[in-house]
Amino acid sequence: MNVLVVGGGAREHAICDAVARSEQATLFSVMNNLNPGIEKLAIEYLLKKETEIPEIVSYAKKKNIDIALIGPEAPLEAGLADELIKNDIQTCAPRKNAARIETDKEWMRNLLTTYKIPGQLQHQTFTDPAEAQRFIDDLDAEVAIKPIGLTGGKGVHVAGDHFNGTTEAMAYVTEVIQNKIGGAAKVLIEEKAIGEEFTLQAFTDGHHVAPLPAVQDHKRLLPDDKGPNTGGMGSYSCANGLLPFLTKQEYHQGVTILQHIIQALAQEQNTYIGPIYGQFILTSQGVKIIEVNARFGDPEAMNVLPLLQTDFLDICTAMLNTTLSTKDIQIEKKSTVCKYVVPEGYGVKSMAGEPIYVNEEALRKTGAMLFYASVNKKDDHILTGSSRSLAVVGIHDTLAKAERISEQALTCIKGDHLFIRHDIGTKQLLEKRIRHMKEIRGKK
Ligand code: GLY
Repeated sequence: MNVLVVGGGAREHAICDAVARSEQATLFSVMNNLNPGIEKLAIEYLLKKETEIPEIVSYAKKKNIDIALIGPEAPLEAGLADELIKNDIQTCAPRKNAARIETDKEWMRNLLTTYKIPGQLQHQTFTDPAEAQRFIDDLDAEVAIKPIGLTGGKGVHVAGDHFNGTTEAMAYVTEVIQNKIGGAAKVLIEEKAIGEEFTLQAFTDGHHVAPLPAVQDHKRLLPDDKGPNTGGMGSYSCANGLLPFLTKQEYHQGVTILQHIIQALAQEQNTYIGPIYGQFILTSQGVKIIEVNARFGDPEAMNVLPLLQTDFLDICTAMLNTTLSTKDIQIEKKSTVCKYVVPEGYGVKSMAGEPIYVNEEALRKTGAMLFYASVNKKDDHILTGSSRSLAVVGIHDTLAKAERISEQALTCIKGDHLFIRHDIGTKQLLEKRIRHMKEIRGKK
């Protein structure tokens, strides 16, 4: 089976790794940067921007691709899945209209309202800053300010984290509207939900949802959740599929919400096929939806895809044939800790083009997995790009051991201008999360 994976990040390296484990697969890649991990796994690759649709479709046709998988959100928004499908290439990723669940936050909130899907937050969109100010003044709560469209995870500003008080809130509201941040002269304002966030990824064939273990990502750049928002500095998951602060019942509330969303999309004639990602927050009022993404998470894909025991291509085939069943998906019961290595200055001004040295042989001996991200291979050197460079994933029965393995693996990576959030998956940070959730539950 000829499989094309679009995207050159660590998430796509993890997707390629899952594909390559299938004996049925012959792997092709389209990526913007020469990812050394994907280069090793693919029998052939095309270096191309992931939104250059005609070139990608023509490559897929030339290579007789049977199944295409799309990692990042930008090509989904640009309609790559639609064009591949139009050209008779089976695609395990949503079409442009279904991907609006991620690419248009106003549309997502409206869908939740129309179909009375649980987990909604108080919200409203504005084109006029004065009306936005009235909403903020009247709402007896702090707010989150969100551009409508894609911003690479960096456009959301939250009270207390990114600004304080109405004057600072209004300065960002005005900036988003005037500068059309996220593509529209519009802003979405939501009540700030207080609690612990968790990610729930699932496969769906448009009707059935097969959920994967819950994961917690760390969006802030610096230890102890300080500093600017990033695409995600690392993440962990637990062997039982839950998180130290998340009960089975709460996990299932998240799954039910995803099921409602998939049903709503089908009713809207926007049947959704592929991986889906719910970003939830556990509050004193139960599970609420922060956002929904039309793809695997990055880094969260790296926590779950290595644990798949079922052939990934069998899952893709089931998604395409509408025969997906939770029972058919086996997942190894292990804990995982993923830590990203990023260039110094990432999140503000990255030091790109700096060499990064990876002792792959020593790293393999630690038992960790290695996923390359925004790096470029040049004359046998690996150079940092402006985004996250690579990730290591420790996998073990216990979270504590998985964390130690990820740290051992990090000692095999050298470079003068690199940064890592070493606190991810540590006992200290986990205990802080558990305490936080205990306090919140106490406020009920
Ligand atoms: N981990 C955040 C994202 O994938 O959007």
